[in-house]
Amino acid sequence: MGADLKVIGNADQDAQVECQIRDLTVTFTTDSGEFPALNHVNLDIIKSKITAIVGESGSGKSTLGLAILNGVAFPGKVTEGSVDFAEHGNVLKLRGKALRHFRGPVVGTVFQASQNAMNPLARVGKQILDLGRSHHYKDPRKLLHEAENLARRMAMDPSRVLTAYPHQLSGGMRQRMGIIMALVLKPKVLLLDEPTTALDLLTQSAVLEIIRSIHRERHLTTILITHDMGVVAEISDYIVVMYAGRVVEQGSTHETLRDPRHPYTRAILRAIPRLTGDLNRARPLEGSPPDLTQIPATGCVFRSRCSYRVPQCDLVAPILESVDTGHFVACHQEGLIRD
Ligand SMILES: Nc1ncnc2c1ncn2[C@@H]1O[C@H](COP(=O)(O)OP(=O)(O)OP(=O)(O)O)[C@@H](O)[C@H]1O
Ligand SMILES: [Mg+2]
Repeated sequence: MGADLKVIGNADQDAQVECQIRDLTVTFTTDSGEFPALNHVNLDIIKSKITAIVGESGSGKSTLGLAILNGVAFPGKVTEGSVDFAEHGNVLKLRGKALRHFRGPVVGTVFQASQNAMNPLARVGKQILDLGRSHHYKDPRKLLHEAENLARRMAMDPSRVLTAYPHQLSGGMRQRMGIIMALVLKPKVLLLDEPTTALDLLTQSAVLEIIRSIHRERHLTTILITHDMGVVAEISDYIVVMYAGRVVEQGSTHETLRDPRHPYTRAILRAIPRLTGDLNRARPLEGSPPDLTQIPATGCVFRSRCSYRVPQCDLVAPILESVDTGHFVACHQEGLIRD
């Protein structure tokens, strides 16, 4: 399977695809009807690189993360599309043992708010051993040794954190433990959903640096879900901007931050002062984040907040098109958008 995954339009000639997502559509059934949380998402996740997935609250980032793990649960449902991993095929078809082997040993995951998801009744070290056992890990001592090393790298005392119960750790420590549990089985893909939100800025920066160095050492493919553009700029190689369940822009982080083409990407970049360094130029993004029940079925999903809106935006949803090698944008007016 792996050899079939070809990179389309990447500026980096050596880039290989780890995960290829095609037409991925996830709907949630609610009392008021069925709504697409992901709408025909097409995406190549590049091997051994860090891909950041960004967008406001409700844009579908966590749903995309879950779908990558074949973990969308009721009332959500994958209604269309595929998620192909090199060597594993379409993971949406995996069941039972094959799916258990995929989650954890192949893709290590930190779920959003996972600092609150540990078992409160078991010591952290025991939870790591249980994790190893559930994946038939042969050598428990080696596993603990690996966890101790990672704890040390994350500036925590292993003898303390591994013998503690989760409530004896701070939120930031639990969040770092979550990252350790994702890494301890030595997966080849790391999927992190808002992994540093409970950390203060200094610790966040240190933890991101550690994630980046482990990513490099182990040649991981890392998918980082975040709403924080500062984090994106600091750590990622590629960026995927989502709005209302659609990918509106994607490209290399360098190129996309240097020359953002979608009005939404430009708006979120303008809204943060710390990238430009000029507080007076920071302008908050107007309007409310997308509400699944209010997303129009036709036309561009961003148009109600867009100052470049033209009649065509009401009628036709723009498709993701190449504006430069490896840089894709879904906007009818892209050519006109310049400061
Ligand atoms: N279990 C559910 N039932 C109904 N709707 C859901 C459910 N889970 C998610 N949704 C909806 O799907 C959309 C996408 O949600 P998702 O959690 O993927 O967004 P997100 O980008 O991760 O947001 P955040 O930044 O707040 O984490 C939202 O409109 C949300 O309300
Ligand atoms: Mg989320």
